[in-house]
Amino acid sequence: MTISDALVDWFSQRARSLPWRTEPRDAYRTLISEIMLQQTQVDRVAPKFEEFIRRFPDLESLAAATEDDVLALWSGLGYYRRARMLHRLAREVVGSGRNRLPEDLEALRALPGIGDYTAAAVGSLALGLEAPVLDGNVRRVVARVTALDGDPRTSAAETKMKDWVRLLFRGHHPGVINEALMELGATVCTPSRPRCEACPLAFECMGRRAGRPEEFSPPRKVRPTEHLRWVAACFVGSDGRWLLRRVQEGPILRGLWMPPLADIEQDEDPLNVAMGMAPGCLKPARGVVFDSVRHHITHRRIEVIPVLAPARDADLPAAVWQWSRPGEVAGGTSSLFEKLYNIIQFNEKER
Ligand code: ADE
Repeated sequence: MTISDALVDWFSQRARSLPWRTEPRDAYRTLISEIMLQQTQVDRVAPKFEEFIRRFPDLESLAAATEDDVLALWSGLGYYRRARMLHRLAREVVGSGRNRLPEDLEALRALPGIGDYTAAAVGSLALGLEAPVLDGNVRRVVARVTALDGDPRTSAAETKMKDWVRLLFRGHHPGVINEALMELGATVCTPSRPRCEACPLAFECMGRRAGRPEEFSPPRKVRPTEHLRWVAACFVGSDGRWLLRRVQEGPILRGLWMPPLADIEQDEDPLNVAMGMAPGCLKPARGVVFDSVRHHITHRRIEVIPVLAPARDADLPAAVWQWSRPGEVAGGTSSLFEKLYNIIQFNEKER
């Protein structure tokens, strides 16, 4: 049996049942699932994918939505830039008079938010194009099976790996080969302690033959951790709702609705900073500083100092401000809002 036959046989028997694995594969659904899967675990993506597709079953419905609607459905997946780019993509395609994604790699790659990986995934899985998909899982499988020499992150190694995957396409659907390699990397050929006894390619695996397949795995790229310190102004109205501001700029949380946040230096007074963040017409009562809360967003560790200040409702421009609670936000928010809300609710009860 050839490597590709063994791989395809294994995949047909062992593939996890996932909501985007419906036949025939549709390019739009494949696009949504692949974008969601890029930075988020399968278990978290599956329910969100179904919800997203129910609300936006095609490019036209996505293009017709507001950015807030799209961000709201993305809540919990993180990396919100992906959602904004998807929305932009839908508007661009529909705006140019089409209602389907383009069917060649170059045109796919020209769309907002689509790089080599996504173009190859959508192109191969949904359109049958012969494009190798090299994600972290596939790189690991290929590096091990071929006992790849040297640094697997160089462009020479990339070319070698793609060529090897292309050989597997012969006589098979390229999407099935690509997805089977991804699945093998996700479920069997794992970064540590690969389950070689369950692997359909064990009989051909050069890494295994050489002793330790782990040695051929590409090392993870580690991004340095950035430490940030924020004040969160928790302005609470008479009905218990919080004042949220739409984050206008910056690399994180942009477009989401959050209690007003600001950077704070070690020697600054959180109370002063928070009170200075109240919009002109809001007159918050004197605030209380709470113990700081730790929050992680990708490679950033953030120390957030909540300052609670009761505030009377004021007429504020609705494009930037709203009064709300977790679960009721019109638009997207971050889990940090809920975290702050719960901590303050809890502490207020204890007092
Ligand atoms: N990771 C990203 N896309 C995937 C897919 N289609 N199947 C399994 N894992 C994946």
